[in-house]
Amino acid sequence: MTGENSKLSPGWMDNIMEAVGDTPLVKLKTFSKLCGCTILGKVEGLNPGLSAKDRIAIEIIDQAEKAGKIKPGGTFVESTSGNTGFALAMACIVRDYKCILAIPDKSSEEKIHQLRAMGATVLVCPSNVSSGDPLSYYSQAKTAAENIPNSFYVNQYFNRANFDAHYKSTGPEIWKQTGGLITHYVATVGTGGTISGAATYLKEQNPEIKIIGVDAEGSILTKYHESGKVDMSESHPYLLEGVGKGMIPGNIDFDIIDRFIKVDDKNSAFRARQLAKREAIFAGYSSGAAIQAILQLRRLWRPEHVVVVLLPDHGSKYMSKVYNDGWMQRQGFIRSLSKYANSYKIQKRLEKVITKYVKYGSV
Ligand SMILES: Cc1ncc(COP(=O)(O)O)c(C=O)c1O
Repeated sequence: MTGENSKLSPGWMDNIMEAVGDTPLVKLKTFSKLCGCTILGKVEGLNPGLSAKDRIAIEIIDQAEKAGKIKPGGTFVESTSGNTGFALAMACIVRDYKCILAIPDKSSEEKIHQLRAMGATVLVCPSNVSSGDPLSYYSQAKTAAENIPNSFYVNQYFNRANFDAHYKSTGPEIWKQTGGLITHYVATVGTGGTISGAATYLKEQNPEIKIIGVDAEGSILTKYHESGKVDMSESHPYLLEGVGKGMIPGNIDFDIIDRFIKVDDKNSAFRARQLAKREAIFAGYSSGAAIQAILQLRRLWRPEHVVVVLLPDHGSKYMSKVYNDGWMQRQGFIRSLSKYANSYKIQKRLEKVITKYVKYGSV
C-alpha cells in the first residue's frame, strides 16, 4: 500500500448488532419554525432493526448472561408483537440463542411474518381474553419460560436492562450530539425505558434539562404522574402503538419526568404523515405522537430552547396503518372520496386537488 491507502484500516463490524445506536440527530426545520425554537429529531428508525428497541436487546442478553440466568444455547421469551420482539430475535441470532415470542392474534400478518423471518418461534394467542387468562399472550409467554429449561423471560416493563441501555447509549449520544445545549427532552412513554434511562443521564449532566413524557389518550400514566393513583376510569382502547399503558411499568421513573402530555390517535397519525412530507423523515405512529406533543406545547417554547424529540421507529412498519389511506378512512381520520364522488372521473379530479393541497397546504 502506498500514500493515502497506507492510512486505511479495516472498518467492518463483527455482526449487525454492532450497528445499533449512533442514530442521527436532525434539525426539524418545519417544526422548529412552527415552535419558534430549535427542534431536533433523534431518528431511531435508522437502527438496523428499525427502532430504538435494538438498543435494549443486547443489554438484556448481556445482563441475563452476567447474572447467570441463561447459559449458551438457551431461549429468550417475551410477550410482544412489537419492536422489542424483532430486536430480540435479531440479537438472539447473533448470540446463538433461541427466541420465543407470544403475540396477540390481532397483530398484523406482516408482523408475524417479520418475526418468523428473524427466526423467532411465534405463539399467536387470543387477544379477546384478560391478561390473567392462561391463554393470554402474557400468560403463554410466562408458562413457556417456566417450562422450558435454560430459558429467560425478558419482561421489558420491569427488566432494568431496558432502562440501562438508554442510560448507557441514548442519553450520552443526545448530550454529545447537542454539544450539551439540550434544554428539553421529549419522548413517548410505554415501558418507560427510553425516557427514564436517557433522562437520568441527561439530568446528571445538567439538572436544568426538562423531561417531557408523551402519553396516549386512553392511558393511565398521566393521571398517575399527577396524583400517584392508578385510576382505571382513564383507561380506554386506543390505536397508538407503544405509547401509554393501562398499568404502571417498573421502568418508568415518574420522579425524573417533569410533566406528561397526552395526545390523541388522529392528530398523531397526521403528524407522522406531516413529518414524512415536510422533513423527509419516514417514521412510525409514535413519532407522530411525539411531534403532536411538541406542537401542543407550542406556548412553552422560547427561541433559546433546544428540544430533542425522540422518534422511536421507522415508517415502513406502518404501511398497513398510518400510511394507508384505507385504514385512515376506516378510523374516520380522512373522508372517503367515494362518499363525495360517485363517478370515477370526479373522484380522480378530487384526488388531484387534494394531492395538490397536501403538497402545498398545511396538512
Ligand atoms: C413504536 C414505539 N414507540 C414508543 C415506545 C415507547 O418506548 P418505551 O417502551 O421505551 O417507553 C415503544 C415501546 O414499545 C414503541 O414500540
